[in-house]
Amino acid sequence: MDFKQKIFCAIDFTEIEKSKRFISKISNSIGGIKIGLEFFSKNGPQGFLEIKKLGLPIFLDMKLMDIPNTVKNAAKNLIELNPEYLSVHLSGGYNMLKELVTIKKKTKILGVSMLTSLENKDLKSFGYNLNNFDYVVNLAKIGEKAGVDGFVSSAQEIPYLKKKIKKKEMLYVTPGIRLSGNKSNDQKRIITPSQAIKLGSSMLIIGRSITQSEDPVKAIEKIINEIEENFEN
Ligand code: C5P
Repeated sequence: MDFKQKIFCAIDFTEIEKSKRFISKISNSIGGIKIGLEFFSKNGPQGFLEIKKLGLPIFLDMKLMDIPNTVKNAAKNLIELNPEYLSVHLSGGYNMLKELVTIKKKTKILGVSMLTSLENKDLKSFGYNLNNFDYVVNLAKIGEKAGVDGFVSSAQEIPYLKKKIKKKEMLYVTPGIRLSGNKSNDQKRIITPSQAIKLGSSMLIIGRSITQSEDPVKAIEKIINEIEENFEN
């Protein structure tokens, strides 16, 4: 299996030139890149188009959430940029998701379930009497009904999702990836690259383990080696 294609690096930099230099350095070692709020809040659509020129598939991680009409009108502008993937919070509800699915053109819509920086005690503090597995599955069912193309969750939840979600071509996109020994930073529901692949991840979103490394290409090689060494077992 070509694991490289599954690795999307989260380019969480503010500076456009730094982002471009960084992407050029790692572009032969990964399957795509993710740019999100940090990059977009500074560089906007123009910056996105400059990154697009580098030729890699882009996941535009805007995590949209607002009333359906506002999301529809904002998303129209984003879909004009033609990103391969665009994210929205599933918790925005069915009507909001449906608006997005109706206008998406070629862009695949990824529904964010529960941020990987959250854990069960956060759900409790929101007043939910559910664990992460049930919470993620409940949201995913709403997404499936609205017609999203995939879900963003911790890889821990994929087996539960696969049991409850009927659509076979769904994408399972997983941040919160760390090699053992890497810092977890603000992430809580973390998992190793090989575990994520074993559990069925279609796309591994990896940021700081690559971007904060002294040798990013080597860091990616280490990730791919960890997958190859453990995948057959
Ligand atoms: O640096 P790190 O590998 O933790 O980066 C993870 C990336 O994935 C960040 O860009 C973050 O915004 C994003 N993300 C996440 N959890 C989600 C959805 C997206 O960490 N549920």
